[in-house]
Amino acid sequence: MLIILLGPPGAGKGTQAERLVSKYNLDYIATGDILRNAIKSGSPLGKQARGYMEKGQLVPDEIVVGIVKERLMESASRGGALLDGFPRTVAQARSLDDVLQEMGLKLDHVIHIEVEEEELIARLTGRRVCRDCGANYHIKFNSPKVRNVCDQCGGELYQREDDSLATVTERLAVYKKQTEPLIDYYAAQKLITTINGNQEIDAIFTEICTLLDQQKP
Ligand code: AP5
Ligand code: MG
Ligand code: ZN
Repeated sequence: MLIILLGPPGAGKGTQAERLVSKYNLDYIATGDILRNAIKSGSPLGKQARGYMEKGQLVPDEIVVGIVKERLMESASRGGALLDGFPRTVAQARSLDDVLQEMGLKLDHVIHIEVEEEELIARLTGRRVCRDCGANYHIKFNSPKVRNVCDQCGGELYQREDDSLATVTERLAVYKKQTEPLIDYYAAQKLITTINGNQEIDAIFTEICTLLDQQKP
């Protein structure tokens, strides 16, 4: 099973992905997480990506396509993969099509999570992330049992650097301009399903699972 989670910053891609990869035993490929880890470790990739991410802009296509290709090769031998935050431009989507064709693989679903802008801003500016396992929380909508402590691993929670109001505004504009065209791109391939993301986390998860289970042979 090969799935893409598509949606604006704050739509809940990471939140749903966490649940989906565990239920369906998928390899989780999140370009944002991979890039943030590279920055943390101070690797050459991190040094290339940092400036773009701090400003809320996209990292160049060649860099992210290379990362995803490598990861897909690794997961091809396993059950399947969930892509979160990739592709993000039509050029990336075309490259992905080429890579999959080379590998003899096919996309099963593109799940588009749709949420209004005002709600996205509230979600992003209140988000907290676990430093150790990457789990997502929200100070109001999805708070941990103990303040600033991860329920799952006890790790410390922090606020992402790009979750300030100014950078969030830029990320939303970048999404509209560079990523939204992918909705039509995948609609043309009859692969996309839009899910109403203005619901409770569990309700959205149930809807996605129903979709995935329906189409399984
Ligand atoms: P990335 O890390 O992918 O960030 P993003 O796309 O901006 O998305 P987010 O992670 O912010 O949101 P999400 O949808 O995962 O929401 P979450 O579940 O956390 O990318 C970061 C940067 O990396 C980019 O700006 C770019 O520079 C670079 N990059 C990455 N991929 C790239 C690529 N392919 N090409 C080029 N550059 C790339 O939820 C958000 C909050 O809301 C949380 O607090 C959560 O608890 C809460 N929440 C979730 N669901 C609900 C709900 N249903 N109701 C209420 N609250 C909810
Ligand atoms: Mg995310
Ligand atoms: Zn954790």
